[in-house]
Amino acid sequence: MNKLEVKINATKESSYPIFIGENLLENAYDYIEQYTKANNYLVVTNETVYSIYGEKLKSNNSKFIILPDGEIYKNMDTLNRILDRALEVKLERKDAIIALGGGVIGDIAGFAASIYQRGIDYVQIPTTLLAQVDSSVGGKVAVNHFLGKNLIGSFYQPKLVLSDINTLKTLDIRQFKTGLSEVLKYSFIEKSCKCEKHFNFLEFLQSNRTEIYNKNPEVLKKLINICCKLKSSIVNKDEKEKGLRAILNFGHTYAHAIEKLTGYDKYTHGEAVSMGMKLIFDLSLEINCIQEEYYHTATNLLKDYELMINLKDEFNHEEFYESMLSDKKVSDKKINFVIPIAPKEVTIKNNIDKKTILQGI
Ligand SMILES: NC(=O)c1ccc[n+]([C@@H]2O[C@H](COP(=O)([O-])OP(=O)(O)OC[C@H]3O[C@@H](n4cnc5c(N)ncnc54)[C@H](O)[C@@H]3O)[C@@H](O)[C@H]2O)c1
Ligand SMILES: [Zn+2]
Repeated sequence: MNKLEVKINATKESSYPIFIGENLLENAYDYIEQYTKANNYLVVTNETVYSIYGEKLKSNNSKFIILPDGEIYKNMDTLNRILDRALEVKLERKDAIIALGGGVIGDIAGFAASIYQRGIDYVQIPTTLLAQVDSSVGGKVAVNHFLGKNLIGSFYQPKLVLSDINTLKTLDIRQFKTGLSEVLKYSFIEKSCKCEKHFNFLEFLQSNRTEIYNKNPEVLKKLINICCKLKSSIVNKDEKEKGLRAILNFGHTYAHAIEKLTGYDKYTHGEAVSMGMKLIFDLSLEINCIQEEYYHTATNLLKDYELMINLKDEFNHEEFYESMLSDKKVSDKKINFVIPIAPKEVTIKNNIDKKTILQGI
């Protein structure tokens, strides 16, 4: 079992541990009790995850709310349902919410915890690869609005994160690949993460593809550990996305437009991100920011992992551009691109002309 500490603004009270290991769900409350003072818990989960893992979280002090499964339920109505349930089971200020599920559950349960009685403790138990390497770390919590994704939310850190890699055994291949997309993203931004430790994550991914797809526990633990270290190193320095945190959006400027224009249900987030990353490598090559050798290394890695990289001819250029401009990351009508410039290194550029941006669309 690995344990790492996320330090927010280097203060002890907002720091929390991430445990990464096998069979953690079996003794979940042993960990939880060390980091919260709760007498009672409300476990927020969905039908799918509950049917596989719900039993493991049952205890005399736990009540459940089982939500329908899907991104479309990450909204204000569901948030209200969670708050109603918290009141119904008389959750008190020192009690805690436990988020058991993927990123959808983590985001909405964390947001509920941040506003229930002006904020109570919450625990992340991420059960998808995407949630274990990304959404459970960093404290961004939110729900969607019909005008856009994650438009209503806050920054609220959990008391601990319990990543049980055994849960990945039941994840289907499409969802596993969605997580891998974010994993590869870290390897392309590693040097720019300003992490004290250097991993050479790109090489790790190049040489462990089969082990990763076979879900080798040791390799998965290492992989999740590296991703969490890289993400927390960024979040430690820039909790509220004033600067450095923006590099986590590598590939996402294109991805968000792809997701929006296809109604958020044709492609998973990871599929949009892998297509977005390929587009950004193409863009970087086009504007001479990257050498061909690294371009091939990076795009070959995307291909080796059989991630989705080819866009269908399904987008209207004007709509695509408009959609990029309406992204909440846009400032002063300039689209900020996180551009690869050298192996594992990125920079931010916002002066790329429209025609070049749309070349690969
Ligand atoms: N807060 C952040 O920093 C952050 C970062 C990235 C993404 N997100 C959010 O995360 C969400 C996407 O998360 P996701 O990819 O985990 O999707 P998800 O939560 O919808 O989970 C994907 C699917 O896998 C199922 N599932 C979950 N765990 C399982 C398991 N162990 N075995 C079998 N099936 C399982 C779920 O029920 C669901 O059907 C989006 O809403 C996105 O906005 C947030
Ligand atoms: Zn993402």
